[in-house]
Amino acid sequence: MNKNNQTHNLSHHKNRAFKPEKINPPRIFDSKSWQWLTQSKNEIVLEIGAGKGLHAIQFAAQNKDKTIIAIERTAEKFAAFNKNAQPKNLANLYPVHADAIAWSVFALPAQSISQAFILYPNPERNNANQQWLNMPYFEFLLSRLKNDATITIASNIMEYLDNAQAQSTEVWQLPTTREVVDKTSSRTHFEIKYLARGEPCEQLVITKPAGYVTRFDNDNP
Ligand SMILES: C[S@@+](CC[C@H](N)C(=O)[O-])C[C@H]1O[C@@H](n2cnc3c(N)ncnc32)[C@H](O)[C@@H]1O
Repeated sequence: MNKNNQTHNLSHHKNRAFKPEKINPPRIFDSKSWQWLTQSKNEIVLEIGAGKGLHAIQFAAQNKDKTIIAIERTAEKFAAFNKNAQPKNLANLYPVHADAIAWSVFALPAQSISQAFILYPNPERNNANQQWLNMPYFEFLLSRLKNDATITIASNIMEYLDNAQAQSTEVWQLPTTREVVDKTSSRTHFEIKYLARGEPCEQLVITKPAGYVTRFDNDNP
């Protein structure tokens, strides 16, 4: 079916459709190694742009009943993440060196994620269509979430969050709350740096309601 013609019953107003069939698999990828995702009893948590992994490592250590998959595409940051994670020996932490878009298209089943984090994403000031909520890919990400799953997106750039909030409510039609990040928070290296400089940090918590319909609810490419 042509996904572009299938807009009548969608839960959102994004016309441009993501095209998963145009995405190549990550360079190092073995689909078999992710088959466990279809039958995991643990809640699966996804972090996109995990940097050196501080948040993912802390989260895994504090939430042994959940499994966190944390994706970072920059080789240097991923190497630091791996180095930090290895001595902790956390069986519920999966550091992934890949582009999150390609990895999620090839590895993630629909409706498999209970919580997602995008913490201090690149602001993409000169290329706003690369901001996560401006991208057609965001619909694919929503399709991978379970009902009532949340996406937490934090930033020190208020214009970024203003736009993301407007996109979330007006285009994606999603319940969205906005919170100030506590000054003592230390989830990521960027958060520590921004709060130490006295910059305001805020976050959106976006919920996928039950019954939310996307073009990708049953599809894998
Ligand atoms: C500003 S850094 C923040 C890193 C970390 N979350 C923190 O707060 O310290 C944004 C990170 O997202 C990563 N990133 C951006 N787009 C990505 C993508 N499509 N897939 C995986 N990682 C991505 C970048 O490589 C970068 O490390």
